[in-house]
Amino acid sequence: MTVSPSAGPTVGHARASLPELLQRWRDDLAAWAIPEEISASVTESPWVLPRQVFARRADTVSAQPDGESYQRAWAALDPPGTVLDVGSGPGAACLPLLPRTSALTAVDADEHMLTLLAERATARGVAATRVPGRWPQVASAVPAADVVTCHHVLYNVPEIDDFLIALTEHARRLVVVEITATHPLTSLNSLWLAFHGLRRPDRPTADDVLGIATALGLHGESKRWRRVGGAGYASFTELVDVTRRRLCLPPARAGDVADALVGAGVDPAHPRDLGSSRRDVVTIWWPGSAKRGCASEPTTTGPFTGDNENSKR
Ligand SMILES: C[S@@+](CC[C@H](N)C(=O)[O-])C[C@H]1O[C@@H](n2cnc3c(N)ncnc32)[C@H](O)[C@@H]1O
Repeated sequence: MTVSPSAGPTVGHARASLPELLQRWRDDLAAWAIPEEISASVTESPWVLPRQVFARRADTVSAQPDGESYQRAWAALDPPGTVLDVGSGPGAACLPLLPRTSALTAVDADEHMLTLLAERATARGVAATRVPGRWPQVASAVPAADVVTCHHVLYNVPEIDDFLIALTEHARRLVVVEITATHPLTSLNSLWLAFHGLRRPDRPTADDVLGIATALGLHGESKRWRRVGGAGYASFTELVDVTRRRLCLPPARAGDVADALVGAGVDPAHPRDLGSSRRDVVTIWWPGSAKRGCASEPTTTGPFTGDNENSKR
């Protein structure tokens, strides 16, 4: 696979090459590793992906579809076509598109997430094809689709170039990616400082994705907007539990975490992730390169356009 790096993206004040941008992306993600002395002090994993919270989000957004990512994918499904959702979770990206979806394929590294999605699709009369596994490692087993969606996955992906290229190769019409403007865990940085005296990273950001996409030669557009709502928790207790685990604190500290969340502005009557209730997200979309019925080389080169900071560089 050949991609054509273009001049433009910067690291600091200097022009940066694609390899430099990719190295920085990997380094920025690696910086989120938790120091051994802190992670060893608890028995529960801090890397919590609360399935029930993502399921509620899928239900909420499919009841009332809205936002730039939905609108871009919806428009690309006129006429209706097939959809591939990568890192689908329970389906927040793809379920709202079902009225214009002729066939749905969902890929997720977590099989339980795929089960939650399949239940929801079945309830709407659609049998989703489930592909458990990591993208792009499973990509060769996945057929191309008219529209490929991928929401809130990229901050989990160190090898982002292969990931984006495989998305492009699997879309006949359009790829639509959604990502928070800043790494979602930055909302807990002040609590890390308060509980552990540890300064956490504030990178990478969506601008870094745009820089990499431009350097990869993907010809796309982006829009930064505000998703009102955020992940919904069934109770304040559930939010405290997830936050406590993320902060590497034992169950005995639940009360302290509850106090800290309230102090940081969380309303126990409407429990949401810190900073997520009105969180800035970025939608990035670009044409796919798949030919009808097969996966092929990306076809497009050119600058990214949009209203995000990166597009002004
Ligand atoms: C934050 S959740 C987002 C779920 C859904 N797209 C949404 O917007 O609510 C990220 C999902 O991506 C999955 N995931 C992370 N990295 C992945 C990869 N490389 N390949 C496939 N799935 C991945 C996780 O298992 C999880 O279900």
